[in-house]
Amino acid sequence: MTPFKAFRNFNDPALRPLTGVRARIHPDSAQYFPGDGLPQRIARALCARKAVPVKEVFESFEFFERTRRRARATEMADLCCGHGLTGVLFAAFERRVDRVTLVDRRRTASFDTVLDAVASEAPWVTDKVVYLERSVEGVGHALAPGTAIIAVHACGVRTDRCIDAGLATGGPMALMPCCYYRTAADAPVALRRALGRRDATDVHRTYRLEAAGYRVDWSAVPAEITDMHRILIAVRA
Ligand SMILES: C[S@@+](CC[C@H](N)C(=O)[O-])C[C@H]1O[C@@H](n2cnc3c(N)ncnc32)[C@H](O)[C@@H]1O
Repeated sequence: MTPFKAFRNFNDPALRPLTGVRARIHPDSAQYFPGDGLPQRIARALCARKAVPVKEVFESFEFFERTRRRARATEMADLCCGHGLTGVLFAAFERRVDRVTLVDRRRTASFDTVLDAVASEAPWVTDKVVYLERSVEGVGHALAPGTAIIAVHACGVRTDRCIDAGLATGGPMALMPCCYYRTAADAPVALRRALGRRDATDVHRTYRLEAAGYRVDWSAVPAEITDMHRILIAVRA
């Protein structure tokens, strides 16, 4: 069982069911994040505003905790960012991150609520975050060289477009893929048959990144949060 690292009190089996997709967020959820630490204060601010479903809070924090040391860079981009919480966490907690570009084809209302919640406890995030409404296709050429790429649940082949962006910038990458529809179309058929599309896709992505000079590691967030819990972390070898 993968342990919770960001909010360790949720390793209590009685609390783990509160972390999944069926759990609801409301101001009372704040009671599950006791303490004076910045993560707990930010989680309570998100609960108070009902900013995002509670599953998203766990997903972003647990992804961040597992990737922050290897994925951080002065310039970062959170691609297919949706509510943007994951990128905003890098802006809040990582001093050496100067700017996080949040990219999505449309800006959601939940992003403003998320930013307001995080900024209530970490006001410096406001100056570090920019939102770019555009497609992820070709976005690497619009980002500064060395920009680190993070992408949480960029659907299907969009994760591959995020890898394209990372290869264009040359920065580190941390990707938690989802829905493998039509992915790995160019992978060996034997791999797809033997491993299934999901594993074959991520194996194929791993070889692609290693061939481009990256060292790839696989990690995961706790499975209670999401079925799509695998993380690919790629750092230049
Ligand atoms: C499953 S959501 C994930 C959102 C967020 N990263 C999260 O963890 O909750 C996928 C997001 O990708 C965005 N998206 C879909 N196609 C896109 C594209 N071609 N370029 C940029 N964003 C896209 C959608 O608008 C949506 O916000």
